Amino acid sequence: MDLVIKNGTIVTATECYQADVGVEGETIALIGRNLAGDEIIDAEGMYVMPGGIDPHTHLELPFMGSVSADDFRTGTIAAACGGTTTIVDFAIQGAGQTLREALDIWLEKAAGKASIDYGMHIAIGAMDDERMAEMGDMVDVGVTSFKIFMAYKGSLMVDDETLFRSLLRAKEIDGLILVHAENGDVLNYLINKHVAEGKTEPIWHALSHPPEAEAEAAHRAIVMAGMTGAPLYIVHMSAAAALEALKAGRAKGFRVYGETCPQYLMFTMEKYDEPDFEGAKYVMSPPLREKGNPEALWKGLAGGDLQTVGTDHCPFNFVGQKDMGKDDFSKIPNGMPGIETRLPLIYHFGVNEGRFSINRFVELVATGPARLFGLLPRKGAIVIGADADLVLWDPDKERQLTQENLHMNVDHSPYEDVTVKGYPSLVLQRGKVIVKEDKFVGDVGAGQFLKRSPIHL
Ligand code: URP
Ligand code: ZN
Ligand code: ZN
Repeated sequence: MDLVIKNGTIVTATECYQADVGVEGETIALIGRNLAGDEIIDAEGMYVMPGGIDPHTHLELPFMGSVSADDFRTGTIAAACGGTTTIVDFAIQGAGQTLREALDIWLEKAAGKASIDYGMHIAIGAMDDERMAEMGDMVDVGVTSFKIFMAYKGSLMVDDETLFRSLLRAKEIDGLILVHAENGDVLNYLINKHVAEGKTEPIWHALSHPPEAEAEAAHRAIVMAGMTGAPLYIVHMSAAAALEALKAGRAKGFRVYGETCPQYLMFTMEKYDEPDFEGAKYVMSPPLREKGNPEALWKGLAGGDLQTVGTDHCPFNFVGQKDMGKDDFSKIPNGMPGIETRLPLIYHFGVNEGRFSINRFVELVATGPARLFGLLPRKGAIVIGADADLVLWDPDKERQLTQENLHMNVDHSPYEDVTVKGYPSLVLQRGKVIVKEDKFVGDVGAGQFLKRSPIHL
């Protein structure tokens, strides 16, 4: 073997066991006892897990009059430092663009900068017969999932006919439709009403995005998934009421899946009342919810009603970006950082706090996203032939998630006061060490575009 990782405990989505991992070139070549290799990494006391897969990131996204603060260089380095070795970002189809043109713009952003492997979803901005045909071309080039925004009226939002046609087409081509589920018309009315009434503080963002508007949109999309027979994935679920709609759809046998994000598990809407405009740091859509919602989401993750934890990483600096909305919450760019902190938070608050097993953790942050997005078995698994994307996880390593300990290109950490136990000690991508002692030691730009498989769920 070129490299052997010895003495660790292999942790997959289904089991934990003692074995060595042998790597030849970029892939896992052997799993067994007493393997010999040219290079040895001692993983005594470590869990050896598949690298994390973040199915929901927005790097260098032009949005709400600004651009998200991490590009493919800084964002992927930060991801790696937190144990994530694959991301799936969103190419957004702009007005008058073909899907191919949108994809090319995002591939250009990533080329030479991405330092971990990456796939792309495409967010559909307009649907006509040509675009329907083009969805098939996208599947042929490995872009097998398509996003529909049911919110952001006047910019990203599309109508129900577009959603319905996308679902019908996705079913034909083995694609997967993702939805941002909020009723954009209701939100638009409430946002305009509140601003007109002079209710401009960050809390009014949450009060303009009620949980019922999320539940209604989730229900609508789930019903359409049932009508078309297509699979559906609801991104960044935040409300217990929306989760109930998902459960009901699944109980009917619909192929509907849900993602939540650490911010919805960690915080409640009290954050919006923090003084000195600090609440703006948590302005995103959907917003933080009332007490009770986070625990419902944790239970959804533990019990199987929710399938993944993504980040929706879309960071904006407090100074110079979030403060664009100092006098009007509707001008605060929506989004939060999280690409680096997902695994440590979910491990600490999920596994250490006894909410679910370490195997469920691996399922939620790596294997589940790989399965849902056409990346298994190359990514998300420790099996012979898979890419040697591995995290040596130190269960005893404590780290405060303060901004100075993190690598994301943003001027604050939402988790400044949070200390977690359990952190990557070493991260490998395709057999090469890329993170050591909390520093990125890989090659900038070495990340590869991943041609994902058609999706069979
Ligand atoms: O507020 C958010 N979530 N910003 C990123 C764009 C999106 O809706 O996913
Ligand atoms: Zn969204
Ligand atoms: Zn998003």
